[in-house]
Amino acid sequence: MAEKNQWENAFTFMMAMIGSAVGLGNIWRFPYIAYSNGGGKFIIPYIVAILCVGIPFIYVEYGAGYRFKASLSKILRNINEKYEVIGWFVLIIPYLILTYYTCIIGWNIIYLFLSFFKGWGPDTDGFFTQSMLHSTTNPMGIFSIVIPIFLSVAFAWVIIWFISHRDLNKGLGKACKILIPLLFFIMAGIVFYSITLPGASAGIHALFTPQWGSDPLGDLLNLNIWLAAFGQIVFSLSLGLCIMLTYSSYLPKGVNLVKNGFIVAITNSAFEIFTAVGMFSIIGYMSLTSHVPIDNVITDGAGLAFIVLPSVFNTMGNAGYIIGPLFFICLFFAAITSALSLVEPLSAALSDKFGMSREKATKYICVVGFLISIIYTSGYGITLLTYFDNFLNQFGLLLTIIIECIIFGWIYKIEDIIETINENSKIKMGKLWKFIIKYFIPIVIGFMWIKGNFDNFVNEGFMKTVIQLILLAVMILVPIILTKLPSKVEDY
Ligand code: PHE
Repeated sequence: MAEKNQWENAFTFMMAMIGSAVGLGNIWRFPYIAYSNGGGKFIIPYIVAILCVGIPFIYVEYGAGYRFKASLSKILRNINEKYEVIGWFVLIIPYLILTYYTCIIGWNIIYLFLSFFKGWGPDTDGFFTQSMLHSTTNPMGIFSIVIPIFLSVAFAWVIIWFISHRDLNKGLGKACKILIPLLFFIMAGIVFYSITLPGASAGIHALFTPQWGSDPLGDLLNLNIWLAAFGQIVFSLSLGLCIMLTYSSYLPKGVNLVKNGFIVAITNSAFEIFTAVGMFSIIGYMSLTSHVPIDNVITDGAGLAFIVLPSVFNTMGNAGYIIGPLFFICLFFAAITSALSLVEPLSAALSDKFGMSREKATKYICVVGFLISIIYTSGYGITLLTYFDNFLNQFGLLLTIIIECIIFGWIYKIEDIIETINENSKIKMGKLWKFIIKYFIPIVIGFMWIKGNFDNFVNEGFMKTVIQLILLAVMILVPIILTKLPSKVEDY
């Protein structure tokens, strides 16, 4: 890869890594997952998940990217030509995620604009689902495009293209170095303000008090809590999508990978726990002012950001005009730096195989991506988005983690990867790490994969199954086509 695709220093790399990890998952997913899985007692499986899956897996991608300085499809082709297609299969998943992640950024841009004058009105639920999204559960709704959403999604793509197509350090690197510290700073302001609200302590209490039943040990051994913790870490750290592999392939020599990965994982978790304190303070406040129990207020995802929180901002008086915009700015910074990271794996792979410049690869990615995202700007968009998100996380994300563990743990010589990871570090990865990558992660994640997909296919309606099958066909056909296309680079 060209010299210019190299991070100027390890700090820029770290900011980009944190930018990828810290996203919607930290702000709108973690608080709910933690609360609905036992509050304080969730912290035990959560820490185990960080130590046994999160951090060890980060090092797989760090080691592979740093060692091979290539994209996954190229690495696999060099091991055996037949494996190239698996590389493209893995690489297509972050791209599909990007197509709907950008749509959420589009919604967010609209809300950022509305937040200055609480333009969502008193009925925030009706506003989001009807006035804004024109949401329908009728699949025919796919033919009616909602123009404001279409425009804001187009705008989101322009921003992503504008940053991604530039040189690595001038575009992506610079954006993350500015936006991530700003995000942390503004979020700190929101959290500190939120804990001073009346009712905040009840909210924080609800989040952190362990909800023990009559059988604490049985409670703690409840499988679902563990699956939720592993799932949260996988999503929140963006594991298995080759983002870290690609980012570390851009590194210059002499970087301490062990230290770097550790800091990224800890920062990501610190940010989500800290943010959860703010979210639960706000929810405690809402519960107090509207006399609704916390249980009935708390939700996750788009419902939290675009329905519950706007209605809290409505009750905050003038402070709502400040906290509202600040919140949506945070959401925007967090989401855009994650979206940028979703561009990179496929972009680097296209450059590797077809000799495209960074500029050209991102142009294709953004134009095709935008065309795909048009379907989410329709009346049926949010339904499709939910199905896609569900399927890609449940089916795609976990599978790619297993695939990577098999490739780098079993097919490729894992000792070589260990050597690369340990190269510049005093703390060394050894037998335990090897065991985790070869056995522990494939078994645990494999179990989650089977369980999740069984639920997904067996318990769902007809339309969802059809949509999932179409998506699956795309996930298989596109990698085959990309593999068959002849390479334009000699040493590919
Ligand atoms: N990890 C990011 C988050 O927490 C987003 C993300 C998830 C990015 C999955 C890529 C893939 O929201």
